[in-house]
Amino acid sequence: MTIVLVFDLYGTLLSAESIARQLGVHFGEAKGTSIAAAWRRYQLEYTWRLNSMGKYDSFSNVTKNSLRHALAEHKVELNGDSISKLMEAYDFLSTFSDVPPALSRVAASPDITAVVFSNGTPSMINNSVLRSQDLSPHAGVFKDIISIDPVQKFKPTPDTYWYLADKVGKQRSEMEDMWLISGNPFDVMGAMNVGMKAAWVDRAGLGWMDAMNGDTSPTIVARNLDELIQKIIEGR
Ligand SMILES: *[C@@H]1O[C@H](CO)[C@@H](O)[C@H](O)[C@H]1NC(C)=O
Ligand SMILES: *[C@@H]1O[C@H](CO)[C@@H](O)[C@H](O)[C@H]1NC(C)=O
Repeated sequence: MTIVLVFDLYGTLLSAESIARQLGVHFGEAKGTSIAAAWRRYQLEYTWRLNSMGKYDSFSNVTKNSLRHALAEHKVELNGDSISKLMEAYDFLSTFSDVPPALSRVAASPDITAVVFSNGTPSMINNSVLRSQDLSPHAGVFKDIISIDPVQKFKPTPDTYWYLADKVGKQRSEMEDMWLISGNPFDVMGAMNVGMKAAWVDRAGLGWMDAMNGDTSPTIVARNLDELIQKIIEGR
């Protein structure tokens, strides 16, 4: 049977490290790193808050607003031009170094269907996949690039994963035929919550710590993406 691999994008295929570097040019390395971390934290927090309030805003707005929050918290300012440049940098993020070999492995496995599934808006994630210098050569691996935007809710709301299932032609009773592959524990838990299999890339090697659902842990954990894909292929 065909294996469906669903790749999260930001923090899984693409690293925001280049954004931290760009912030470092403005504010010095230590502060740049700290602002980048706060930016990512508020970006996620905003999506969850919007979900809780039953409201929606595009991920590009969420990303811009959370940057303003992170800057204000660090008591620094950036002009509109610099903010636009940082937002544009999202279209040119680098992949983690384990991503190209992993995607080559996927390309060499004809019985794998791979898609990208992200909170980003369609234009953000299309740009990210098609313009990133290291990801674009592999863009052909992906059968589809799926944004949650039409659902008007963010992951880990079940509706977003049901929508994904519709897009890849799976029924609600077939959720376990799909693997969510993510570096983000909240996404891993969201997928398992609707019955998908989930693989977590533990690049920091710190082990699974998410304790929200008691003893629940990812179907597969690996230190890098290539090893993870290998495990899924061998374990089927
Ligand atoms: C994004 O922000 C702009 C400017 O504030 C607003 O006009 C637009 O409606 C927002 N988009 C969504 C999807 O809420
Ligand atoms: C993004 O890419 C998908 C898949 O290739 C396509 O269906 C969609 O129309 C594109 N959307 C935008 C806004 O470019």
